[in-house]
Amino acid sequence: MRRYFVAGNWKMNTSRSEAEKLAAAVAVGIEGMDAVDVLVAPPFPYLTSVAATVEGSAVKVGAQNCYFEERGAFTGEVSVGMLQDVGCSHVILGHSERRHVLGETDEVINRKVKAALEKGLDVILCIGELLEERKAGTTESVLETQLAGGLADVSNEQAASLVIAYEPVWAIGTGEVATPDQAEAAHAFTRSWLSGRFGAELGDATRIQYGGSVKPANAADLLAQPNVDGALVGGASLDAASFVPIVQAAVELTK
Ligand code: PGA
Repeated sequence: MRRYFVAGNWKMNTSRSEAEKLAAAVAVGIEGMDAVDVLVAPPFPYLTSVAATVEGSAVKVGAQNCYFEERGAFTGEVSVGMLQDVGCSHVILGHSERRHVLGETDEVINRKVKAALEKGLDVILCIGELLEERKAGTTESVLETQLAGGLADVSNEQAASLVIAYEPVWAIGTGEVATPDQAEAAHAFTRSWLSGRFGAELGDATRIQYGGSVKPANAADLLAQPNVDGALVGGASLDAASFVPIVQAAVELTK
């Protein structure tokens, strides 16, 4: 049985005090929801204070990006070791905004994935097709290219610390959510690819989150799909009053 994993990607939002308040509200809100893994991913400058805020709670802390070099002359970049040093257990890599706004390629994402997994920082690798790719019927080949590229040279041992987030780009921040059937089809395809690459046992054990306009109102239907193992939540993670009910929806499905 895969444990549900609900993560909040705060993107470039919140002030320090808002971040601390939100983290504290999430920590209190998910008390007793032990059947589900919960993570928040604040902006870099607030990682330290958010990690301190949630210390002692079940909330994990993740970063939204990292660099693949350990240290040195890489102005503006943040290393895996630095993230671990401030309390991160996870890093989100390959988010569509990194791919399409910041121009990250599968090759760059792969270097980051390997750097994180080699140092024991768990990875949430995001994949997902553009609207024109879905309309052209190339969704699966896009996912395959992103999986093969992002996970090149990743060992089975490393892949055990991997989470995939399927996030159709047309559903991110648009209010247009994938239907449960659309999500399930993409997740099932992703799982069969993972099984082919890493073997059935690991393919079966790897959690695949859905992301793209997840809200309390649609979470249960998405999470009820057999291959949907959690959610990567953007907008609705910025308010504990909408994020906690998404976690609650996952908890209900474990009963
Ligand atoms: P959204 O973002 O929930 O605001 O659509 C999801 C994401 O980008 O991870």
